[in-house]
Amino acid sequence: MPWRFSIELDDRNALPRYLQIAQAIARDVQRGRLSPGDRIPSSRSLAQQLSVHRNTVKAAYEELAAQGLISTSPSSGTFVSSRLLDVAGQPSEDAPPPGRALGFDLPPDGAPDQVAEAWRTLHRAPYSFTGNDPRLLPLASLARAYRSALRSRNRNLLGYQFERGHPRLVEAVRSMLIATRGLRTTDGLMITRGGQMAVYLAIAALVRPGDVVAVEEPGYAFGWLAIQRSGAELTAIPVDEEGLCVDVLEARVLEHPIRAVFTTPHHQYPTGVTMSPSRRRRLLELASRHRFAIIEDDALYGTRYERAPALPLASADREGVTLYAGSFSKLFAPSLRLGYLAGPDQVLERVSRIRPLIDVCGDGVLELAIAELLEDGEIERHARRLTRVLGQRRDALLEALQQHLSAVLEFRVPSGGTAVWTEVDPEIDVDRWSASALERGVGFITGRFFFLDHRHHSNVLLAFERMNESEMREAVARMVQALPSAKKSRAPRNRGS
Ligand SMILES: Cc1ncc(COP(=O)(O)O)c(C=O)c1O
Repeated sequence: MPWRFSIELDDRNALPRYLQIAQAIARDVQRGRLSPGDRIPSSRSLAQQLSVHRNTVKAAYEELAAQGLISTSPSSGTFVSSRLLDVAGQPSEDAPPPGRALGFDLPPDGAPDQVAEAWRTLHRAPYSFTGNDPRLLPLASLARAYRSALRSRNRNLLGYQFERGHPRLVEAVRSMLIATRGLRTTDGLMITRGGQMAVYLAIAALVRPGDVVAVEEPGYAFGWLAIQRSGAELTAIPVDEEGLCVDVLEARVLEHPIRAVFTTPHHQYPTGVTMSPSRRRRLLELASRHRFAIIEDDALYGTRYERAPALPLASADREGVTLYAGSFSKLFAPSLRLGYLAGPDQVLERVSRIRPLIDVCGDGVLELAIAELLEDGEIERHARRLTRVLGQRRDALLEALQQHLSAVLEFRVPSGGTAVWTEVDPEIDVDRWSASALERGVGFITGRFFFLDHRHHSNVLLAFERMNESEMREAVARMVQALPSAKKSRAPRNRGS
């Protein structure tokens, strides 16, 4: 154990010290601080730590050994007994509790926990249609950039330094947003720990209990959950082949004012549809007329497989109605936790006051390293390579689906994003299909996670980021094997019909 093992001794306690030590360790075993098999410090080191004579600790250990609580092996040390025995020498009933009971009232959460839980389960499957592929990361460049950031010997990088992010990263991201996404130079900008944090902060700055926020349905559940946490109500707006249905939104706004709309116009999540230019114009105009904000979640930017670039909604915003949230999770790696929020400076000022409540500052070393990779074009080169690979994976998946599953599902070819949204034959119970596929090592998400009612919906989302082409073909083959058990039993036909 690299740490000093702290035990409190009480000078006013009449009990001899060796018994105080023995009792403290026995209590630690009982309450689960020490578990069967754990090593405890040698008598010499514990004596030093407690400033007592070594014989005192030895006497304590003899007492504990006599109770069967610890055992000492001369070659390897002193351990909590792996099988705790009671006084009669039988395995003890009061083995340490596996976890801690809750000693206070936990109010109801209100949020459907199964969303995050299901995601984690599917993500752990060996063939998962979720997550990214770490094999594609340029580790050597990242290591070089980290080393160079640390070699700068600027120890301030490791302090509470940067309110809106390392200035070099802020500038590097700003020039990326201006060049590639047509954003304005005057927008405020903050580096965040991931796109989700950018979305969360935008919502925290804007939304108050009782507000109504419009969201796309199907849509991004982790965005909804953040809105619901702020005490707002969601109103669902459908999505069609041109993106969010602005007509429906307008009718809704005329019924009841809304504080904001949360949208993914660039590659709608999960359908992958890009919002049409006319819808974009109308949405911006509607927001400005009714004075609500547009929270544009563009975490999937950079994954576009067609030549013609599509610019984000924020690039056409002349009225200051959009807050633009982006991420390096798709362009680079999700676990870096790097994203950003751009928007009117008054809002960014407010966000700067909220962010320290959950995260006092960012990771200075990482931010400087990524700034270097952006400045020397490494991230752009990696993103181009990645998009080429993802395009090939998308095509391999579409081909496998077409060949083996076209009888039960339909899909539109996504021009961007990292997943294929499919409509499944209603005769298939997609949740049973997912469960049965999971038994065969394949994880995929079903429709219920993208609809507000979280009920069964005949859709499946297949992300093609994580698996290479042959893994994906294997995954589809296993999905086919899992299919028969997901067929709904047909209702018995009427006699004579
Ligand atoms: C639509 C959408 N928004 C936001 C995020 C969050 O991204 P990040 O990993 O940067 O927090 C994701 C992640 O996949 C996403 O799909």
